[in-house]
Amino acid sequence: FAPSGPGILTRTLLNAGLRVVALENNSAFLPNLQSLENSLDGQLKVIYGDFFRLDPLVTGTLKPPAMCSDKLFETMGVAPVPWGADVPLRVFGILPQKKERNMLWKFIFALYECSSIYRWGRVELNIFLSEKQYKVLTAKPGETRAYQALTVLWQVGCEIQLLHM
Ligand SMILES: *[C@@H]1O[C@H](CO)[C@@H](O)[C@H](O)[C@H]1NC(C)=O
Repeated sequence: FAPSGPGILTRTLLNAGLRVVALENNSAFLPNLQSLENSLDGQLKVIYGDFFRLDPLVTGTLKPPAMCSDKLFETMGVAPVPWGADVPLRVFGILPQKKERNMLWKFIFALYECSSIYRWGRVELNIFLSEKQYKVLTAKPGETRAYQALTVLWQVGCEIQLLHM
C-alpha cells in the first residue's frame, strides 16, 4: 500500500497489475482517488490515513489521519502470518525528509518488538529516502559519522537493498 499524494506510486503499482491499498492523508485528494477506486472493480482500496502516523506512541483516542495498525489491517483484510513465512505485504512510500530519522527509528523498534506493522509478519518496506540516510543504513564499521547505532540495528534486522537511485 502506498501514500498516494500526487498518485504517482499508486498508479504505477496499479499499472503493474498489483492489488493496492492507498493511504491518503489529505482529505482534499480523497474524492479523486475514490472515483478511481470505483472505476477499478476491487483492484484499489482507498483509506483516509497516514502511514507515517501509524501507531503513535501517545495513548488516547486517535484523530484521523493518524490510525492504529489493527484497524488498518482489518480494513485491508490482511491476516498475520508467522515470522518465518513469506512477506505478507509490501509497503511503498516516500519518507518525508523531515521525519526520516524518526521513522527509521520507529520502524526498527517495531521490527525488534514484532509490534505495529510487524505483528503481521515480515512486512517489506520499499521506501524512497534521502541519500544521506541511505548511507547511514548501509555504512560499514569505521566509516565515521555514517556508521551509527541506527546502522547496526537495521543491518542486523534487515536485508537492505538499493533498488533505484
Ligand atoms: C500528510 O503527509 C505528508 C507526508 O508525511 C505531510 O507532509 C503532511 O503534513 C501530511 N498532511 C496531513 C494533513 O497530515
